[in-house]
Amino acid sequence: MTNSNRSGTFSLGSRTVNRIGYGAMQLTGPGVFGPPADRQGALAVLRAAVDAGVNHIDTSDFYGPHITNQLISEALYPYRDTLTIVTKVGALRTGDGGIYAACSAAQLTAAVHDNLRNLRLDVLDVVNFRYMAGGIPPDGGAIEAPVAALAALQQQGLIRHIGLSNVTASQLAEAQKITPIVCVQNRYNIVQRHDDALLDECARQGIAWVPFFPLGGFTPVQSSALQQIAGRLGAAPMQIALAWLLQRSANILLIPGTRSVAHLHENLAAGALILPADAIAVLDQLAL
Ligand SMILES: NC(=O)c1ccc[n+]([C@@H]2O[C@H](COP(=O)([O-])OP(=O)(O)OC[C@H]3O[C@@H](n4cnc5c(N)ncnc54)[C@H](OP(=O)(O)O)[C@@H]3O)[C@@H](O)[C@H]2O)c1
Repeated sequence: MTNSNRSGTFSLGSRTVNRIGYGAMQLTGPGVFGPPADRQGALAVLRAAVDAGVNHIDTSDFYGPHITNQLISEALYPYRDTLTIVTKVGALRTGDGGIYAACSAAQLTAAVHDNLRNLRLDVLDVVNFRYMAGGIPPDGGAIEAPVAALAALQQQGLIRHIGLSNVTASQLAEAQKITPIVCVQNRYNIVQRHDDALLDECARQGIAWVPFFPLGGFTPVQSSALQQIAGRLGAAPMQIALAWLLQRSANILLIPGTRSVAHLHENLAAGALILPADAIAVLDQLAL
């Protein structure tokens, strides 16, 4: 058994992936913009992930922009048949690193073609529509038009499955009237749990829940409770944060991000941790 599938698998539409994957956003320069300081190091992390059994990589062509996808294809193409690359569209970058919503049919079509070209693929396994309005949390505005635009690209054979990112329950329901939704990617971690109800609804429907910022984002979540439990179980605090997510619900797929091969292996090893009930009870009190 590889490091990446000790905690089992879940499906993303027709694709089955290990519950611990890898989020590639951190591989660019600072602010998810420009090239990495250590290009060889970034390529090495991607290769180490796949060598350790990771078969789910999360990316976007607006990371860099283009750079994360180009790193993925340089490191890993030709891809293993078992690898599922999930990308996201719905935003573009300004020349100085800003990010703005780009969700017209023309912009989404161009974004899908950018992803195909930079990832060197003929079809994208999963494309998430990233809803930008309202920031985080989202404001729940209409998403019918962009989801319909992606569904048209799906019908053309350019996309296998569609997911959503940064959405509310009503936006999920709105999208499902247009096309099946295989995953939802919202901010969620041991301290940020305002989406508990939506996570449970996704579990009920068999939709994967793929929390972004599973470790809290650029500054990993810290608390003395995490450290105490980690010390007791002989684990690292971030492993406890990931193990809590794995135990929270069977439909959770993890995509922790790192530039470090050592952290990558530490994160994958979290799949073997079993948190006892008394530790879960303490961790359950950490929600903000
Ligand atoms: N849909 C969206 O809007 C959205 C938004 C943000 C992110 N995402 C996706 O979600 C993925 C995960 O998010 P993220 O990478 O921003 O945040 P994250 O996984 O919550 O945290 C990454 C941070 O944690 C550190 N870290 C990772 N493993 C660690 C370990 N074992 N011990 C200590 N520190 C550790 C990393 O630093 P080191 O590099 O030093 O390890 C990095 O600073 C992204 O890669 C991206 O694919 C999606």
